[in-house]
Amino acid sequence: MPTPLIIDTDPGVDDAVAILMAAASPEVDLRAVTAVFGNVPLAATTRNAGRLLALAGRPEVPVGAGAARPLVHAQAERAERWHGGDGLGGRATALPAPAAPPDPRGAVGLMAAVLREASEPVTIAPIGPLTNVALLLAVHPELAPRIGRIVWMGGTLGAGNVTGAAEFNALCDPEAAHRVLTQADVPVTMVPLDLTTRCPAGPDWVEALGAAGSRGLELAQIIAHYRAAYRDRYGVDAVALHDAVAVLEAVLPGTLRTTPMAVRVACDLGPARGATVPARRPAPEGPPVQVAHDADMDAVLAGVLERVGRLG
Ligand code: BDR
Ligand code: CA
Repeated sequence: MPTPLIIDTDPGVDDAVAILMAAASPEVDLRAVTAVFGNVPLAATTRNAGRLLALAGRPEVPVGAGAARPLVHAQAERAERWHGGDGLGGRATALPAPAAPPDPRGAVGLMAAVLREASEPVTIAPIGPLTNVALLLAVHPELAPRIGRIVWMGGTLGAGNVTGAAEFNALCDPEAAHRVLTQADVPVTMVPLDLTTRCPAGPDWVEALGAAGSRGLELAQIIAHYRAAYRDRYGVDAVALHDAVAVLEAVLPGTLRTTPMAVRVACDLGPARGATVPARRPAPEGPPVQVAHDADMDAVLAGVLERVGRLG
């Protein structure tokens, strides 16, 4: 029986790889994709989610539009430099149009409906800011027992990728991240930057993706802008597939090795804002978050490629 899955996302180039991979994975039943502000504004992430589902041949999967901004403070910055002004490396309008307008229930209403209707525990894989998920938990605490696990790409135990301390998804909405990581009702796995940057996809990987078929080729074209940004910024010809690493764990639990840690998020307005700070001892700091710290990185890269390649 496939595990029901909701992806909450801000597409986003690595989000695109993650969504297509989930669509190609028989271990999960993709029940909804919900959009949040993040890499680019909400209107673009919502349209991109619909376009990516159309590209994946999954037009029946509903898309819900969620938060257009963080819960408390304004968004620090967006990530057009990495993902392009349209969020998909300039390729958004080359994709098929969304099959339907966004679901009228919105992201939180759609997630709630999926949870209510599911007969099995649902996995939620947020791969952007945690605003929609924090709102879901706040508005519908009665549905928390229906969530099997939350697998979030975000946070860092070491250096950040936006500030010295903060990873992008955490910095976008630290208050929401704190809300989700410090609750005890739903088990959370955090897939931090420290891990996702350890499996860069190089030219061979992108070339193999492009050779997999027309969808693989489209994804490889979407990746081109992100790849150029990596070359400019880091001087390497390889890209981090952050969100796909987390979604692979959601699809195939146990792919990543984890260790339990209580994690709090710095929510002050100083230089540490958005830092995900682990407690080095067990409780009373908070409920344990399973923090992913290791994996067979070659297998992760090969697994993502093989799955996306199935779409042709
Ligand atoms: C995260 O930030 C976004 O730009 C990516 O899509 C990913 O979710 C990595 O820090
Ligand atoms: Ca993302």
